[in-house]
Amino acid sequence: MSIESLYEKRVPCGALSKKDISGQAIVAAGWVFRYRDQGGVIFVDLRERSGVLQVVFDKAESEKLLEQADALRGEDVILVEGILRERSKETVNKKLATGEVELLAKSLYTLNKAKPSPISLDEHEDETSEEVRLKYRYLDLRRPPMQEALYKRHHFISNIRNFLDKEGFWEVETPMLNKSTPEGARDFLVPSRINVGDFYALPQSPQIFKQILMIGQVEKYYQIARCFRDEDLRKDRQPEFTQIDIEMSYISSSMIMKLMEDMIKLALKNVFNINLPDEIKRLSYHDSMELYGNDRPDTRFEMPLTELGEWAKTTEFQVFLKAAESGGRVKALRVPGGTSLSRKDIDDLTKWVAQDFKAKGLAWVKYGEQGLESVVAKFIPEQSQKELIKLTKAEKGDIIFFAADTADVVFATLGALRLKMGEHFNLIKKNDWKALWIVDFPLFEIDKETKNLNALHHPFTSSVEADKDLLLELGQKKELTAEDKKKAAQIKSNAYDMVINGVEVGGGSIRIHDEKTQAAVFRLLNINDEDARMKFGFLLDALQYGAPPHGGIAFGVDRLLMLALNFSSIRDVIAFPKTQRGQCLMSEAPSPVDIKQLQELQLRSLAKKKE
Ligand code: AMO
Ligand code: AMP
Repeated sequence: MSIESLYEKRVPCGALSKKDISGQAIVAAGWVFRYRDQGGVIFVDLRERSGVLQVVFDKAESEKLLEQADALRGEDVILVEGILRERSKETVNKKLATGEVELLAKSLYTLNKAKPSPISLDEHEDETSEEVRLKYRYLDLRRPPMQEALYKRHHFISNIRNFLDKEGFWEVETPMLNKSTPEGARDFLVPSRINVGDFYALPQSPQIFKQILMIGQVEKYYQIARCFRDEDLRKDRQPEFTQIDIEMSYISSSMIMKLMEDMIKLALKNVFNINLPDEIKRLSYHDSMELYGNDRPDTRFEMPLTELGEWAKTTEFQVFLKAAESGGRVKALRVPGGTSLSRKDIDDLTKWVAQDFKAKGLAWVKYGEQGLESVVAKFIPEQSQKELIKLTKAEKGDIIFFAADTADVVFATLGALRLKMGEHFNLIKKNDWKALWIVDFPLFEIDKETKNLNALHHPFTSSVEADKDLLLELGQKKELTAEDKKKAAQIKSNAYDMVINGVEVGGGSIRIHDEKTQAAVFRLLNINDEDARMKFGFLLDALQYGAPPHGGIAFGVDRLLMLALNFSSIRDVIAFPKTQRGQCLMSEAPSPVDIKQLQELQLRSLAKKKE
């Protein structure tokens, strides 16, 4: 019989049990996983996608077979034809799904030999460095956590597809070679050979195309879309990542939020048995910043920040007084049980906030048996001390940290400190799932360096109804004064972000659907009419041919999976991720190209040639 004809008889062997015992020959194929030679009998754990099955090579069956088995090495690819049988009582392996049975080999085919694996493929031994794992990704992918990640990713996306299909969405592909869409990050550029000197940009997201699909009568669009952003990478950021990208016509923000809650809840439940809370609360951007110091709060634990702007003026501490008087902010974080932090702990925290968030210091008081204690306490009059305890709801045993600075520094410092303390004191319940919507974002923010307005979400986001007139009015102005910019920064957008356990998993908005408002927003963003024409002329044109009101959202698939699988890095849920330096260690991309390719594109690199 040819080996190929045996492939047809192959069964997935990871789920075989006593009820599959028939006396008929079956075929299993996979990798040599564990190997035990017991003299005269060789046991091989054969591993494939569905699991592991013990195969027995017995001298009593055939001496030649034993010899063949003796030559096997870890990760050799084999095919075995044999008879499934029950294991004797003593040899039952409770840890294995197939632990009650084994395959008595009748014939063995070594389909391919393997070099010794540089990676331990045992479930419990993933101590191999990430560098080695990424270089030999094909081996790493064979490990159970990676197999689970790949499967769950597939299953999650298929649940999303089913849901959206039932809701009447069409999946439409949008181009990869584009004009750039500004989403705030840098573009990856692709030079054009036919139009020498011109460049395409890879999509940062399908934003403009999905809006144009609404104008093209698609009404309900989705795409499992690959996006490219040339930004500095972190553990939850990749240069290419996947979005569940959605757009709908005739829709309010509440309608979208409701539908998306249903979709995400269903998929998380079906694939991971994760239950999001029935009601997903909405929190304004303003309140999120004031209470948690950022716009993606982890609400698995409380520990809110306390506002101390007015209180600060009742103290004699110069740092507080100066901040309060110069338009800065003073806020506090009460950490329950925090008196257990040592001087060294506090010094380390102070260094950390100085380095990472530019905090000028980290004042603190401990609420001990004798009342408030610390160097700062003496600058706080008795009445103010009482008031502080009341405002922060402090109890004996707590520590209160203070930040006095610009709003940005105060929020960043205390927001990060809150998270660190939550972890330090084990306040974050690991199996808890807390989701919320952040709403009422500002439409613009003022850039600290250029003092220009930037879009907080993207330039296609509409304002809330109440601010529409102001937006149009400001958008008519030739020059914006500092006062105008301040006013513009007060405009609220009709946008929403979904946050789960402190991770921004998705974000979207109701869009501008008339040309006049869109042009006004470009002007406010310091894009003059001529530039706007050049960059977005096609959108401005399309908006004039009967654009229906529309809105949408995009979820980060990788981030959702990282959360649900409880991985600490987004790289673990992507088959072939890039490192922090944007490299694929397996294929060694990016890499130099042949001079001929550059000549065809009429390009020359200005970068110094690597030694
Ligand atoms: P936004 O830029 O907020 O919105 O992106 C949507 C979601 O995509 C995920 N995400 C990322 N995941 C991994 N690596 C990255 N570098 C990365 N950047 C973003 C996040 C984020 O919430 N076009 C709009 C959506 C819309 O308005 O409909 C957009 O792309 O989970
Ligand atoms: P100093 O007066 O510099 O000795 O600081 C006294 C305490 O106040 C120290 O614990 C500093 O860490 C803290 N501190 C200094 N500047 C700030 C600030 N801007 N915000 C909060 N705490 C500060």
